[in-house]
Amino acid sequence: MGFFSKSFDPITDLPDLSGKVILITGGNAGIGYSTVKHLARRGAKVYMAARNQSKAEEAIAQLKAEGLGPGNGDVIWLELDLKDPRNAKKAGERFMKQEKRLDVLIHNAAVFVENYTMTPDGVQEIVMVNVISHIVLTRTLQPLLDQTAAEPNSDVRIVVVASDGHRAVSGKPRFRNLDDLNNELKSSLHPGFARYCMTKLMNILYTFELQRHLTAVGSPITVIAVHPGAVDTWSDRPSLSNFKFIIKPIVSLFLLKPDQGAYTSAFAAASEEVAKQREKYKGTYLTPVGKLTEPTKVAKDEGLAKELLNTVDKFLEEKGI
Ligand SMILES: NC(=O)c1ccc[n+]([C@@H]2O[C@H](COP(=O)([O-])OP(=O)(O)OC[C@H]3O[C@@H](n4cnc5c(N)ncnc54)[C@H](OP(=O)(O)O)[C@@H]3O)[C@@H](O)[C@H]2O)c1
Repeated sequence: MGFFSKSFDPITDLPDLSGKVILITGGNAGIGYSTVKHLARRGAKVYMAARNQSKAEEAIAQLKAEGLGPGNGDVIWLELDLKDPRNAKKAGERFMKQEKRLDVLIHNAAVFVENYTMTPDGVQEIVMVNVISHIVLTRTLQPLLDQTAAEPNSDVRIVVVASDGHRAVSGKPRFRNLDDLNNELKSSLHPGFARYCMTKLMNILYTFELQRHLTAVGSPITVIAVHPGAVDTWSDRPSLSNFKFIIKPIVSLFLLKPDQGAYTSAFAAASEEVAKQREKYKGTYLTPVGKLTEPTKVAKDEGLAKELLNTVDKFLEEKGI
């Protein structure tokens, strides 16, 4: 595994996950799909939270075709559209009615470099999907996470899939109000990429703030941010099918396959190494595979994290969510 600093293979290195319940956002495609596969193969019951029923059903059928069968865990679709935080809340509430435990919650879904789009709630879509609705989902599920964490021998974790792209954020941004959150970053070389990187910075700020909060209230829950590596989750898209014969060989030289790209998420979600040394991994940032890595100074700025969450709180309060 030349790309990685230490060897970790979910097939051989993850413990038996029978009895564990895991929820992952955006599990129908890319890194999320492979994360579902790694965890379900070890026996977990995995909820694939996805917005599109037919895509989710196709993904589940493909998982079965790839060898998810008797003796493995279960994969169940949970309807979730992160464009609307009310939908995230409803999805969380439905889940709470359906399940008695939640061992691992993985924030994985994201939109990447999109045109600047505003949601009807007046927050740009990339911030709503990648950040705010995930916060709403987590808060809705918190009672169940707490209940599970209170059980003997539990090991509850929240994994936030961020990105080393956060390093591309220059200077120290501000998140004082919605105007700050809606910054188009027009003066950047590539505004779409800059906005994506900003949301990934927000993901890390949130991870560390959530860990500080949970630790302060005496919760044993572990919160970890991960960077999956540079992963090819796009060259199979139908829009590129005519160029596949050129793109594929080049991409495979430089980028990880989604199954490998999911290793660090699987490590953070379920590895024994994290279970054995929870204090070491709480509120950390991991790069492939499972390597403790320093994010930028800005990503660790507690004041900035609080500023972000105050703005999110105020927005949600105003919307009654
Ligand atoms: N690929 C990389 O090189 C790389 C590098 C660093 C970090 N990451 C991070 O890794 C994570 C996964 O990325 P990926 O490359 O696997 O992306 P991907 O292949 O584009 O998959 C993204 C997933 O998010 C879902 N999603 C998007 N909008 C949604 C919404 N409104 N509601 C619910 N689900 C929604 C997608 O569902 P649909 O199929 O319905 O669109 C899909 O399942 C992201 O957090 C990304 O930032 C990726």
